[in-house]
Amino acid sequence: MPETAVIGAQWGDEAKGKIVHFLAREADLAVRFNGGPNAGHTVQDARGTIQLHLVPAGALQPGCQGVIAHGVAVDPRVLEQELDSILSQGRPCPVLYLSHRAPLILPHHRLVEELEGTAERIGTTRRGVGPAYQERVARRGLRVGDLAQPEAVLERLRELRLALEKGYGRAGFDPEALCQELSDFYRRWQERIVDTRALVAGALAQGRSVVFEGAQGTLLDLDLGTYPYVTSSTTTVHGIGWGVGVRLSGSPRVVGVAKAYTTRVGEGPFPTEDPGAGGELLRARGREYGTTTGRPRRCGWLDLVALRYAQEVNQFTELAVTKLDVLSGLEEIPVCTAYELSGRRVEDFPGRVSELAAARPLYEPLPGWNEDIRPARTWEELPENARRYLLFIEEQLGVPVTLIGVGPGEEELIVRR
Ligand code: IMP
Repeated sequence: MPETAVIGAQWGDEAKGKIVHFLAREADLAVRFNGGPNAGHTVQDARGTIQLHLVPAGALQPGCQGVIAHGVAVDPRVLEQELDSILSQGRPCPVLYLSHRAPLILPHHRLVEELEGTAERIGTTRRGVGPAYQERVARRGLRVGDLAQPEAVLERLRELRLALEKGYGRAGFDPEALCQELSDFYRRWQERIVDTRALVAGALAQGRSVVFEGAQGTLLDLDLGTYPYVTSSTTTVHGIGWGVGVRLSGSPRVVGVAKAYTTRVGEGPFPTEDPGAGGELLRARGREYGTTTGRPRRCGWLDLVALRYAQEVNQFTELAVTKLDVLSGLEEIPVCTAYELSGRRVEDFPGRVSELAAARPLYEPLPGWNEDIRPARTWEELPENARRYLLFIEEQLGVPVTLIGVGPGEEELIVRR
């Protein structure tokens, strides 16, 4: 299938990196279309473990080129540090293209995120992504392509500094030094700064295989997620049009990625959160600490009300269920199939965050399994109750589970045919 979208079905951290890396084995292009360095996509392969924030995970596959499209907020420092860490693992340098339309994240964006209290209020990743998008929407931001004109950049940085000093009493950067740093960055990257819309559209027109790599998850979508406790971009499949400027064919492959349980970092309602021993167990076994921030993730049980909503929004054609191994050894596994809200049973995900905060999960206990499933490589090798767990998800969502993560390594994956 030439077009594959990989989309987080929960609140991010669904192990999309592993799934994209696998799906990009035969792809020509891997395209990031939303978010920025707030994302943390982990790949664990023969060369080691690497955490990517801006470089598409698919671009680590030989023969697959990476595209950072205009929907992504680009922090030049993070991008170059990331390339250094890729090279320091002895990996080949990925071939990357960067949109000239992409908004830049500059040092003051992180400062503004702190000073405006967004980091505290929402529990953001403190990467300056929100303020960079804010400037973009206000039509005051600098874009990657602007760096071709250093005089204009310097003038803009001086204006920005004045405005920040007036507004906050500090600016967090020196315009001359920053302008020099950005001009040097542009000089190193200019061959790779292109019209990524045209590049991806051309690839699709030629029938080349393209993987679109979503960052964060459906429930963190700026508009369709649990607003205001969301990120600042379009994290659903619809973000591809927004962030790349191409239209998918009538029948793309849309792979929703969901963890076998649920986690969330940052603030906001989370009906199936287990603040007790169950959540503690999931955190310890699943090593649930933020890739970008190191924060402990909030942990809880699988929420099928939320997943059905993600299915409705994205129309997944298949589902990848990751970290199933983390559930091994539990006698019973609670799975939320509905909420109780004001004394009523509801099966639809509430659109208002106040309702979601008041929702109480209604669980169905499913039988667990004791076997270590990490060595399993086929559907048949999974214990019967593990298969029942997956079939239950399939039945509730009406979509086939085709990929099953049974451990962090790239080979710890079951492809169900
Ligand atoms: P921001 O994207 O840094 O503005 O953070 C907004 C919200 O999205 C916070 O709750 C973050 O924890 C969450 N968030 C942002 N990126 C990710 C991610 O890649 N995984 C999980 N949560 C994320």
